[in-house]
Amino acid sequence: MQNDTEKIIDEKVQGTALSLENNSKNTRKLYIESYGCQMNFSDSEIVASILAKEGFNTTQKLEEADLVLVNTCSIREKAEQTVRKRLEKYNAVKRTNPGMKVGVLGCMAERLKSKFLEEEKMVDMVVGPDAYKDLPNLIKEIDEGRNAVNVILSKDETYGDVAPVRLNSNGVSAFVSITRGCDNMCTFCVVPFTRGRERSRDPQSIIDEVNDLWDRGFKEITLLGQNVDSYLWYGGGLKKDFDKATDMQKATSVNFAKLLELVALAQPKMRIRFSTSNPQDMTLDVIDTMAKFDNICKYIHLPVQSGSDRILKEMNRLHTRQEYFTLIDNIKARIPDCAISQDMITGFPTETEEDHQDTLSLMEYVKYDFGFMFAYSERPGTLAARKLEDDVPEAIKKRRLTEIINLQQEHALYRTQQHVGKTEEVLIEGTSKKSDAHWMGRNSQNTVVVFPKEDYKVGQFVNVKINDCTSATLIGEAVSLSKNN
Ligand code: SAH
Ligand code: F3S
Repeated sequence: MQNDTEKIIDEKVQGTALSLENNSKNTRKLYIESYGCQMNFSDSEIVASILAKEGFNTTQKLEEADLVLVNTCSIREKAEQTVRKRLEKYNAVKRTNPGMKVGVLGCMAERLKSKFLEEEKMVDMVVGPDAYKDLPNLIKEIDEGRNAVNVILSKDETYGDVAPVRLNSNGVSAFVSITRGCDNMCTFCVVPFTRGRERSRDPQSIIDEVNDLWDRGFKEITLLGQNVDSYLWYGGGLKKDFDKATDMQKATSVNFAKLLELVALAQPKMRIRFSTSNPQDMTLDVIDTMAKFDNICKYIHLPVQSGSDRILKEMNRLHTRQEYFTLIDNIKARIPDCAISQDMITGFPTETEEDHQDTLSLMEYVKYDFGFMFAYSERPGTLAARKLEDDVPEAIKKRRLTEIINLQQEHALYRTQQHVGKTEEVLIEGTSKKSDAHWMGRNSQNTVVVFPKEDYKVGQFVNVKINDCTSATLIGEAVSLSKNN
C-alpha cells in the first residue's frame, strides 16, 4: 500500500488539465496540462491569459483541442518520462485530428530546445519559461505550417504585467509569483539552467495582484519562487547585479521580510503563505515578520536535502548541519507552533551509510510536520553530473528512501497528535475527498483538517475543535465562525 508521503510524491508528477471560465467570442480550443512544481501551474495561468486574447478558450477534452500545450518538468528523470508518455497519447489523438497542434512549454522545452523537435516528431512548438509573451507570434508560425521555437531566457521577464487567469481554481486560494529563476546552483539541480538567473517582481504589481484577488473573494495566497527568501527588488534587473545598483536604488530596495510585511498590511485578513525557502537565505527578519503578523501562516517549507555536512558541501548547499539546527531553534523560539517541512534526496553521489544516518538523526532533531523525499536522479548538464559519478546503486537509494519515508511518517503522526484537543482556525477549501458530508480545509500550519459541513461555506474561516488525527489529516468539528471573516 502507498503511504501518504508516496502519494504526495505521485501527485507532484501527475499532470492536471486546466480550464477556466471562457470568453464566448473565442473560437479556438486550448487544452493545457501542467506537470511539476507550483510555479508551472502558476505559469500556465499566465499562458492561458495570453492566449485568451488570441481567441482561445480552454477545454478539458483533449480530443476537441485545436492546440495542446504541456507545461513540463525536468527536475527528475521520472518527471520527464511522464511527459514523454503524455506526448505519445497526444500523438494518438493527433492521428484522428490532424489539425491539432502540440506545443511543449516549461523546463523540458528549455533543457532540450530545438532538439525536442527532432526527438518528438509530432511536436510543433517549443517554448521556454521566459518566452510566453511571444506565444502569439509562435502560434502564427505553426498556423502557417512551420515549427516554432523560442527558448530565450530573460534578464527581466517576470510577467508582472500579465494578470493571470485562475485555472481550476477553488476560488479560495491562489498562487502569486514573486521571483523567477534561481542563482543558488545546487549541484544536483537543473532549475538554474532551465529557469535562468534570479530576478524579482515589482512589489507594487504583487500587491495589486493580491488586492485584486481579495476583491474577487480569494482568502489565501502563496507567494511563489524557487528561493523566495532571496527576493530583492531594487527597480528591476538581475539579483546578481544588485552590487551595481545606485545608492538610491539600494536605499529603497525591498527584501523578502519587507515584502511580506507590505503584503500582510495591504490585506490584513488575507492568509499569506510562501514557498520555497532555502535555509541559507532565510533571515531572522523574515521569522520576526511571520511572528508579528497573524495573517502570515505559521508554516515554512525548508528543504535541507541531507543531514551530512560532507554531502551538503558536495551539493553546494551553503550551510552546515549545525547552522540549520540554529535556524530551526530560532524559528521555534520565535514561533513555537510553526510547522516545518523538508525536501530530502537519498543516494546523492558518494553518500555513505554514515551520511544517511546523519540524515536520519537530523530528521529526529527537527521532527518535520511534512516531507517530500526523492531518490537522486542525475540531471544532464548539472555540476554533479559533470563532476561526480552516480555511484550509489539504485537498490540502496531506494532502501534509504524507504527508511526516511518511514521515519517521516512517524514524525508526521507525532506532529498531528500535538493538534488533538486544540481549537484551530481553518479556511474551508472544499468538500472532503472522502466524504460529501465533510468540509476540507487547512489550519495555519498547512495541515489538512476535515469536519462535518453543518451550515458553513467554502471560503469561510471556522474555528474547529480537533478530536482525532491520522499522520496526514486532522479530524474535528466546527465550534464557531472565526472573527476573521
Ligand atoms: N527551490 C525549489 C526546489 C525545486 S526542486 C522549490 O521551489 O521547491 C524541488 C526538490 O526536488 C528539491 O528540493 C530537491 O529535494 C528535489 N530535487 C531537485 N533536483 C533533484 C535531483 N536531481 N534528484 C532528486 N531530487 C531532486
Ligand atoms: Fe534548485 Fe537549489 Fe535553486 S534546489 S531551485 S538550485 S535553491
